[in-house]
Amino acid sequence: MTAKGQKKKSYPKQEHLILIGFMGSGKTSMGLRLSYRLQMPVEDTDKIIAERNGKSISDIFAEQGESAFRQMETDLLREIREGKFSRRILSLGGGTPVQLQNQPLIRQCGTVIYLRIRPETVYERLKGDTSRPLLQCEDPLERIRKMIRERGPAYERCADLILDVDDKKQPELVEEIVTYLKETGYLKEDAGKENK
Ligand code: S3P
Repeated sequence: MTAKGQKKKSYPKQEHLILIGFMGSGKTSMGLRLSYRLQMPVEDTDKIIAERNGKSISDIFAEQGESAFRQMETDLLREIREGKFSRRILSLGGGTPVQLQNQPLIRQCGTVIYLRIRPETVYERLKGDTSRPLLQCEDPLERIRKMIRERGPAYERCADLILDVDDKKQPELVEEIVTYLKETGYLKEDAGKENK
């Protein structure tokens, strides 16, 4: 919080490539593909948080609770916004854009790509997965539908580019991203040609 009368510190916009989207939308694998294609380092914010805590996201949820995890996400976004990381691809946890206070932070961190996915596709992809604490419930499909309905506007508010991922293969999506990044001047015309 900024004390009354005190000026809020302003930061220059960072130049990361940020991937957002619901669990199972392919942020991690897309991050890896883009990393190869663009020759840029890639990082998963969940992984950074897990490593810093020396435990899995599931254990953080179980032992410290979801709100402690959400605070860690916000703290990490602030570090990124303040320029503590060199330019890279960052895939964010599926819930990071949901908190209102995170939305301007995410936008200040770079160019934001939203991988939009249908609930049924998430369900098929994550059936049997036990690493997502929020989906360990009686009726995961219903939970996924509800969460996507509620979160959609938050993802859209953060996004510079929205891609529907259900019916496309990742290499095709990567090329769409590259085309977009060239159009906006983020990438030079000949960027990463040899890594196609
Ligand atoms: C969450 C998504 C997960 C992880 C945590 C909470 C969410 O990340 O941050 O389990 O609230 O959607 P992935 O989207 O990488 O699975």
